[in-house]
Amino acid sequence: MKKDFLSIADWSSREMKRFIDLSMKMKAQPEKYSDSLKGKSVALIFEKQSLRTHVTFDVGVYQLGGHSVYLSQSDISLGKRESIHDVAKNLERWMSGVVLRTYAHQGCVDMGANMKIPVINALTDYEHPCQAVGDFLTVKEHLGDLRKKKFVFVGDGNNVCNSLMLMAAKMGTDFVAATPGGYEPPKDVLKLAGEAAKETGATIGVEHDPRAAVRDADVVYTDVWVSMGQESEKEERLKVFRDFQVNKQLMSLAKKSAIFMHCLPAHRGEEVTDEVIDSKQSVVWDESENRLHSQKAIMYALFAGQEDFMEK
Ligand code: CP
Ligand code: NVA
Repeated sequence: MKKDFLSIADWSSREMKRFIDLSMKMKAQPEKYSDSLKGKSVALIFEKQSLRTHVTFDVGVYQLGGHSVYLSQSDISLGKRESIHDVAKNLERWMSGVVLRTYAHQGCVDMGANMKIPVINALTDYEHPCQAVGDFLTVKEHLGDLRKKKFVFVGDGNNVCNSLMLMAAKMGTDFVAATPGGYEPPKDVLKLAGEAAKETGATIGVEHDPRAAVRDADVVYTDVWVSMGQESEKEERLKVFRDFQVNKQLMSLAKKSAIFMHCLPAHRGEEVTDEVIDSKQSVVWDESENRLHSQKAIMYALFAGQEDFMEK
């Protein structure tokens, strides 16, 4: 039975830990896995711009011995030139897996539901699960045990925040989303995270005062205030989020040992200042590197026929 990688919520705490452990193994000994996708092709469909996700999936497929085919929105015009259903029915005849970056999360769900091969969500308006796996690998490398660490996301309760919150809940990491009123993570994601947190002993909270939220934080994370697809709200958002900038003053309220994280791309001078993103506390380039290792682990489990990796 194939399984798609669309939301962190669909995977158990044990499975997510396995993804992180496997990412570490693949990072340490990449040569051991270099034939995993031999003779297999993977479609990379991107309807939005990307640097990190595009490059790391492409390089990841290559390092696993496979072949990738990149398809932009202008190539296939998903849902316009041809329905998602028909694109799915074609791709499953040639490919071993699909990586999809799109707007509506339902697009990813529909792609997965209509094909026999697995789909990996490479970002939707709702979630960015691959980012969360790579980021928790980075936290583990820098801070060790993920349990009982305080992870504070400052800014917009967006796709990246949703996946990080679900991942924190599964890893037993305490999580706070510090957002302006009206920009909190969606209720259904808070509910799913709350349920997962009960099992691991993590706490999940929402705050509206960034200064109170980051006190004693181990991780301070932020993302852009205007995500792809929200360009028409830019003026309004720049005003609403003004007090949520991660700057030196805000970082000084976190633990001395705290790390700063950002999925990138960063809008320097908006959600983060140069002095923070370029500081010794910043681990943003490690995050970018780890996207490669963690996505190789996800592809190995899903596209290389490693069914026993997953719980039945
Ligand atoms: N962090 C991330 O997903 O970056 P890209 O949008 O450049 O892929
Ligand atoms: N929230 C951002 C993340 C980019 C990686 C966006 O969706 O544009």
